Order: sequence, then structure tokens, then C-alpha cells
Amino acid sequence: MPGIGTLVDLLLFYTLERVLFNRMVGSVGKNSQQVKRAMALWLMLEEIGYHDLIRMIHSYDDKTIEALFNESLRCLEFIQPNAAPPTESHDTRVFLGLFDEPMNFRFFYYNREFMYKRYVHIMEIVCDKIFGENAAIEVDESGLKPVARPLGEGSTTSQASTESNQLLLNQDSEAPKLSNLNPGANEFNPVQTPEDTRTMFLTFSKGYPLSREEIIYFFTSKWGEVVQDVFIELTHPGQDPQFGRIVFTTSLVIPWVLNGQAKAKFFVNRKHLWVRVYVPRYRGRRKFIKWYNNSRKYYSF
Ligand SMILES: *[C@@H]1O[C@H](CO)[C@@H](O)[C@H](O)[C@H]1NC(C)=O
Ligand SMILES: *[C@@H]1O[C@H](CO)[C@@H](O)[C@H](O)[C@H]1NC(C)=O
Repeated sequence: MPGIGTLVDLLLFYTLERVLFNRMVGSVGKNSQQVKRAMALWLMLEEIGYHDLIRMIHSYDDKTIEALFNESLRCLEFIQPNAAPPTESHDTRVFLGLFDEPMNFRFFYYNREFMYKRYVHIMEIVCDKIFGENAAIEVDESGLKPVARPLGEGSTTSQASTESNQLLLNQDSEAPKLSNLNPGANEFNPVQTPEDTRTMFLTFSKGYPLSREEIIYFFTSKWGEVVQDVFIELTHPGQDPQFGRIVFTTSLVIPWVLNGQAKAKFFVNRKHLWVRVYVPRYRGRRKFIKWYNNSRKYYSF
């Protein structure tokens, strides 16, 4: 039985991501380091419940992918630790057509602390491992060994570089441990504070903000004394808040709010309210099930 938590597991789990990476570096012609960053952002968004984002992006033509990639690099600027706040010119919607709720650069800036820490983590434990200099890392024909192939295979020098990369890549101990995939296992996630696990992201329609009091009243009247705090985006005079966060007293409320969906949408005092939660990938949802289905032949939980 292959070891649990090897680089190969990780590569198989992120097969689609690797295909898209090669396409963006290859036929779309983008800088591989930038593509890697955009991918980390997209993986982070998938963890906020934008399910299937990468599959959807991959279904688009190269031109659309390039536009999304451009937007993503700008979004990334707003989650950097010393990011300058967005101005009114940044109020235009981003990722139009991909998401229900109105998303703009302020969404990223408002949640930057949380997002940046997740982004760095995903970069480290996933992207740095599955994407090489010029192409994604591959799994060899046996399905057991990772190999780094240069894009545009076929040159006579590729064999040698493949072999030397293989030596480097075979150090499986460097791969993240996936053994805590067991849903019942104790989890330790260094980048999620206990408060993070009780927090949900709030989005309002443009021009129809909800107040802190309205939000507290809404959740309290539905589920009792479950609200610890609500934070609303601070805006310039004349600009309506569009984003917020709610912290519950217990994470048990979250499944009630989501009611089996990736995100919840409510109508509060005739205004829209979208609510999302962050679920780390290895514990999470559909990808986990997919991974689990694909790898049942290797593991028994
Ligand atoms: C993406 O950005 C590059 C560089 O700024 C620009 O040349 C290109 O036209 C943009 N592509 C799209 C589709 O917006
Ligand atoms: C996983 O397997 C189950 C049972 O075989 C199936 O119902 C489900 O659709 C599969 N899920 C995915 C995401 O492939």
C-alpha cells in the first residue's frame, strides 16, 4: 500500500488544477509564478464555498481566462499585508458571472488578514508542491512517482532534467500529511484560530446595506442567542458598506445557517444577505468526497 500523505496523493487530488496551470502557462502564455499565485487565490476562494471555481474557469476560452487571471492578480494586491485601500474606482464588480453576489476589490481588502494567511498557507502546502518552474509536476505512468516535465516535452535534454527532478521529488516526507483527512480525526490547523471556525462572511447588495443591529436581530430571532459579534465594513462618507463578518458563540450554528448549501442567501428587511463560511480543503466538502472516492482503492478509513 502506498504511504499515506505522499506527494503523489497531493498531485492526484489536484489533477484539474495542474491541467489548468499547464494551459495558462502554455497556450494562454502567462508567467508561471503569477499563474501559481492566481491559482492559490482561486483555491482559497473555493474554500470560502465558491465551489468548482477552478473547473468553471477551465471551461472558459483562453481570452476569458486571461481576463480572470488579470483580475485575480489585482485582487491579490488587496490582500497583501501593506495593501493600500481600494478607492471608488475599485468598486466595479470582479469575477462577473462567476458569483451570485456582488464582489469587488473591497471584498478582498476587507477580509485581507484572513485571506492572506490562508493564501500563504495554500501556497506553501499545495501550490509550491504541485507546480514546477514551467509546468505542473506530473505523476509518471506507473501512477506512483512524481516527475517534473518541462512544458513542450520532446527536446533531447528533457530526460536528464526529468531524472534529476525525480530525485528531488521523491522525498515524500516533505509532502503534507493527508492522514487527518479522516473526518473524525482531531484537527490541528495552525492558520485557523478558534474564532475563525465560528466566523461567517457577509455580503450585501450594492446600495442596500444592513446594519449591525439588523443582522444581530435576524440571526437571534432565528436561532437564539448565538451571535457573539458582528463587524461591518468601514467606508468613506457617502459609500455604503457591502461586506461584513459575523462571529457566532459556537460553530454549531454554521450548519443550520447553511442548511446543506455552500452559501446561504437571506432576504432581511427586504435586502439581500449572502453568508459564507471558510472550510479548509482537507476537511472540506465536495473535493474531499471526490478525493475520497478516487482514493478508496488505497485507503480504508
Ligand atoms: C491582461 O493584462 C495584460 C497586461 O496588463 C494586458 O496586456 C491584456 O490585454 C489583459 N488581458 C485581458 C483579456 O484583459
Ligand atoms: C462518491 O461516491 C458516491 C458513492 O459511490 C457517489 O454517490 C458520489 O456521487 C461520489 N461523489 C463524487 C463527488 O464523485
